[in-house]
Amino acid sequence: MSTLMAVKEAPAVPVGPSLSIYDPIFLGIDEFGAHVNLGLMGRNLLVGGEPGGGKSGLLNAICAHAALSTDCRLVLFDGKLVELGQWEDSADEFVGFDPERAINVMARLSALMNNRYTWMKAKGIRKIDPSHGLEAVLTIIDEFALYTATYGDKKSQELFTALMRDLVARGRACGMPVVAATQRPSFDIIPTSLRDLFAYRCAFRCTTESSSDVILAHGWAAKGYCATAILPTNQGEALLLAEGGIPRSIKGSFLTDDQIKQIADYAAWIRRPHRLEDTK
Ligand SMILES: Nc1ncnc2c1ncn2[C@@H]1O[C@H](COP(=O)(O)OP(=O)(O)OP(=O)(O)O)[C@@H](O)[C@H]1O
Ligand SMILES: [Mg+2]
Repeated sequence: MSTLMAVKEAPAVPVGPSLSIYDPIFLGIDEFGAHVNLGLMGRNLLVGGEPGGGKSGLLNAICAHAALSTDCRLVLFDGKLVELGQWEDSADEFVGFDPERAINVMARLSALMNNRYTWMKAKGIRKIDPSHGLEAVLTIIDEFALYTATYGDKKSQELFTALMRDLVARGRACGMPVVAATQRPSFDIIPTSLRDLFAYRCAFRCTTESSSDVILAHGWAAKGYCATAILPTNQGEALLLAEGGIPRSIKGSFLTDDQIKQIADYAAWIRRPHRLEDTK
């Protein structure tokens, strides 16, 4: 083999800092200033709260970790395009305001789940872990109500809802967790049966006690854990129900557009170092 060939066939991922999706994800700090981390593998996260509360900020922090994790593939749904748009180069799929494409991508995720479970059954595996060598597929949906209640007709909305519910219900054990956010935390958008499939829930500021309970679970507001108490001026504050089983007040980490640009650029490079050559 010539020297030139040897250089061409150098390992695709250059030496440099990267993360694993199995590492705890840094979400922010709690009221004592302690770091709040979350392990997403094997769990789904539901995020809700009024417009401008900080949902997309949190989603971007998770997206940054996932994009820097070379053992994780990303599937992004963003009906607004600009909330997660900077991560497009790191994602296998980026769906905007096209309801047909949204259904198509969800159906492909469903087929992938079926394949994974068939493979797992053959191998006698009940839950994927790093030793199985399968890449995680993290699906992040910013404003899922756009796909379940706004774009398209009733039939396509119902189909998307059914496929999303299936992914949330079955994805976690086969390495395909879901993070889904909405600014419409009401019973019609998040029925209890869907909410309960999310082990982790995060409520940013809500306008009513019932919407806070729709996200966290009925009864938390009465016990004093209510996202209406969050000041409108304190964007990024939220109640996080995760490990520990009791909602915890957090201040989410926040990346500016410029910081996202830099991380996204680096993430795209560690994932596809030869991407300019690939397009030739
Ligand atoms: N953790 C944070 N720390 C400080 N400021 C924040 C934080 N999160 C959000 N903000 C501020 O709040 C603004 C709105 O946040 P973000 O876009 O995340 O809200 P959202 O809940 O996604 O709103 P929408 O429902 O309209 O999409 C941000 O542009 C930023 O200025
Ligand atoms: Mg948003």
